[in-house]
Order: sequence, then C-alpha cells, then structure tokens
Amino acid sequence: MTEAEPARLRRLGPDDDERPARALVADLRLDQPVGERPRVVAAMVMSADGRAQLADRSVGLGNAADRDLLRELRTGADAVLAGARTLHAERYATLLDPAQQEHRRARGDAPHPVVVTVSRRLDLPVGEIPVFGEAGVPIIVATESADRQLPGCDAEVDVWRYAQGGMTFGGLLRDLHARRGVRGVTCEGGPGLLRELIAQGELDELLLTVAPKLVAGETLSVLQGERFGDRGLDLELADVHRSEHHLFLRYVRPT
Ligand SMILES: NC(=O)c1ccc[n+]([C@@H]2O[C@H](COP(=O)([O-])OP(=O)(O)OC[C@H]3O[C@@H](n4cnc5c(N)ncnc54)[C@H](OP(=O)(O)O)[C@@H]3O)[C@@H](O)[C@H]2O)c1
Repeated sequence: MTEAEPARLRRLGPDDDERPARALVADLRLDQPVGERPRVVAAMVMSADGRAQLADRSVGLGNAADRDLLRELRTGADAVLAGARTLHAERYATLLDPAQQEHRRARGDAPHPVVVTVSRRLDLPVGEIPVFGEAGVPIIVATESADRQLPGCDAEVDVWRYAQGGMTFGGLLRDLHARRGVRGVTCEGGPGLLRELIAQGELDELLLTVAPKLVAGETLSVLQGERFGDRGLDLELADVHRSEHHLFLRYVRPT
C-alpha cells in the first residue's frame, strides 16, 4: 500500500497588498441581482472562540477595518437586512456618514439604503431604536401580523404584511427586487435571522471577521437555531484579508 501524500497548508502572504474596504465590497457585485432576487451578502464578526457577542452586543469585537467594511457594505447595497433583536441590541443609528451618502448620490442612488427588518409579531420597540427617529431613512418592516400597528416616528416606515406563516426570506427578497428595485442586500444578522436565511437557501456570500479575542460564557454564536443536519453545510473560502490582528474571511456557497 502506498502512503497518502501529506496534506499541504499554504501560508498566506505578508501584508504587501493592502486594499481599502470599498475595493473588497466592489468584488461582491452588490449591484447585480441573482435572477429575480437581490444578491445577499452577510457580514458577521466573531471572537476567536466563535462568540458573536461581547456583553450582549457585537460592538467591541470589530476593529476600525471591520467597522469600515460594514459601512462600505451599507454604502454599496440597496438594502440592509437586520433582525428585530439586532436593531434593538445594537441601537441602530446613523447608518452612513455624509461622505458615504454623497458617494451613493453621486452614483445615482438614494443617500440611504433601505433598512429592512422582519418581525412576525410586529413586536418592535421603535422608540428604543434610534434609526426609526431619523428623518429621510427608508425602513421596511416585514411582518405576519394582520393588524398590529407601529407607533409614529420620523423615518419613512412601510409595513409589508404577509399571511400568517407565509413570510419567507425568498418571498421578501423577491418583493424587494420587484417593488423597490433592490439589487443587493447586506445582511447584518443577527444569528437567529441569519440561520433561517441560510436554511432557506437565500445567502450568496458570508463575510466573517475573526476578532483576536476570547469570550467564553453563555453567548450567542454566529448562527443560532437548529443544526444543519449531521454533515453541516459546506462553504468555499473565496478570499482572506487581515487588518492588525483581525482576520477577514469571505465564504461563498459552492455551486
Ligand atoms: N457578531 C455579530 O456580527 C452580530 C451581528 C448581529 C447581531 N448580533 C447580536 O445578536 C443578538 C441578536 O440576534 P438574535 O439572533 O437574538 O436576533 P435577530 O436575528 O436579530 O432577530 C430575531 C428576530 O427576527 C424576527 N424574525 C422574523 N422572521 C424570522 C425568521 N424566519 N427567523 C428568525 N427570526 C425571524 C423574530 O422576531 P419575531 O419573533 O417578532 O418574528 C426574531 O425575534 C444581539 O445580541 C446582537 O448584538 C451579533
């Protein structure tokens, strides 16, 4: 019997090819829908031990490059999708700075991406999520509630109602494309929403930032919810960057 060839591990290159976050986002083709739905790219940050929270929020895990990447993803996408609990926990506010809004305007887009959130019960503490108080920010809340109302606020909020048990990410994404012309979506979690998005086959790429930190404890992971069978779901590594001691991994779903 011949001995198997030993596996080879490639050492990734030194930091000789630095690129701004905007260049990484350009690679993602967020202006190119996938058939009848927008392209969907998720961005999450985790500690080296796989935790997605530090003191109940993700703030504190990312570094300057991670924050820059998130903002460039928002600048590049027509819509930002985030779960109801994430909007609340992360106190969503001021998604883009004036220069990023201007960049969007200059390329012919609205200054703000549409903020899209899902709450089957329409159970959103609107008064505790600052972005709902920002005039001019378009927000879509997708729900299965037939009649619950949201309190008034300064943002431009549209409630899209789906039948009980009839709200799927595929349906919502197709509606965003058909009704609002959304070509690309940045999904910012949280772990519950992202697991469902992936389970429904609607995620194209995952950007995972690994922070040089250990957290431990009873904290959420990047995905929460039922296990993806005994074999898990496969990904392919499409790109790797680093900034300081943070690692930036880009995964795609195999075709
Ligand atoms: N590390 C990171 O990158 C990162 C990113 C984002 C968030 N986080 C952290 O994650 C935590 C929040 O995440 P989470 O998982 O608890 O909540 P989440 O995913 O932000 O929101 C979940 C909510 O979305 C609604 N929803 C509607 N349809 C859904 C579906 N098909 N599947 C799942 N949810 C659906 C549900 O509201 P209804 O019950 O009303 O339907 C549910 O309560 C926060 O602590 C946040 O700081 C970390």
